[in-house]
Amino acid sequence: MRTIEPSLAKAFAGRFQIGAAVGGVLPDALEPAERALLAQHFNVLTPENCMKPGPIHPERERYDFTAGDALLRFARGHSMAVVGHTLCWHQQCPSWFLADGIDRSAALAELGAHIRTVAGHYRGQLQGWDVVNEAIADQGDYLRDTPALRAIGPDYVQHAFQLAHEADPSAELYYNDFNIEQPGKRERTLRLLDSLLESGARVHGVGIQGHWLLDQVPFDDIASAIASYRTLGLKVMITELDLDVVDRPDCGADVAVHRAYAPAEDVYRDGCPAVVLERQAAQYTRLFEIFAAPETAVTRVSFWGLHDGRSWLNNWPGKRTNHPLAFDRQCQPKPAFHALLEAAREAR
Ligand code: G3I
Repeated sequence: MRTIEPSLAKAFAGRFQIGAAVGGVLPDALEPAERALLAQHFNVLTPENCMKPGPIHPERERYDFTAGDALLRFARGHSMAVVGHTLCWHQQCPSWFLADGIDRSAALAELGAHIRTVAGHYRGQLQGWDVVNEAIADQGDYLRDTPALRAIGPDYVQHAFQLAHEADPSAELYYNDFNIEQPGKRERTLRLLDSLLESGARVHGVGIQGHWLLDQVPFDDIASAIASYRTLGLKVMITELDLDVVDRPDCGADVAVHRAYAPAEDVYRDGCPAVVLERQAAQYTRLFEIFAAPETAVTRVSFWGLHDGRSWLNNWPGKRTNHPLAFDRQCQPKPAFHALLEAAREAR
């Protein structure tokens, strides 16, 4: 007889939302057990891919809202909120969008049409939008070299936020990125957020993605980063949490990076050792203690995937068998899940 575990979302109710990224066209993209898991433990959804520029706007005159609308129906049917991801990103973009050689006014018109149409379609229905994703350079420079930067210039971020607010004045608007807990990238992100707020653009929050590696989690940097973003009066969210247990080069979450894994390197193909899962549980607990502490409180923690079998980390930076989340491939709770419930009890 399968035991019904206490809900993770309910355990942290009053502190922060618990979310998950989901892919495909709901509900059929998920098995019944997966749908039950989602409904029981999560109260906010993020579309893993279907609301990105490429999938939602495949041709200049054609938009595809099928998967996004289905996700919204599923969420509404389970009293869940939805955060749109993402209106402006340099990855998963149609090749014609902000293509090199386009002039500034034509590029602004393209970006404007995209944001007005997509955010307009979901007007009044979403909790918020990741308006711009991964605009900060990883090393050295200020902004990442992207088609939007080349076509419009550094104020493209400000324009994107203004366009999103006009298209949906009720939606919260977020800047989202990875490694922005690291000191250098954090300073550049604070500079961007400061300039946006100075410009009068509506920015309500910042999303720290949280694609961290087991035994290399920068706990102190995370706590300092959350505290520093809060000083701007912004909500802080952990938006794409996972704890990778299979070694990978430190490449943040840059999907452009690829690396083949030899079969011998696919170390947890037949399962993850209990001792590793216990370390993972302890490190998730430490993270959630930071997220629940008053001075570093976040408003949402979203896992990037529903369970280990649905994680992008099985295919990036190369094919491998990963175990980065709180539920296993059979939708069963892992030690991390039980540890988080305990952390919730402690935090009360
Ligand atoms: O839908 C096509 C399918 O038609 C085609 O047959 C198949 C084979 O090529 O590709 C499918 O598209 C894939 C898509 O996921 C849906 O599965 C893309 O190739 C693949 O690149 C894409 O990967 C996504 C990745 O972003 C790409 O940008 C991952 O699922 C998604 O988890 C990942 O999410 C990003 C966040 O948006 C931003 N932060 C980092 C995070 C992880 O990279």
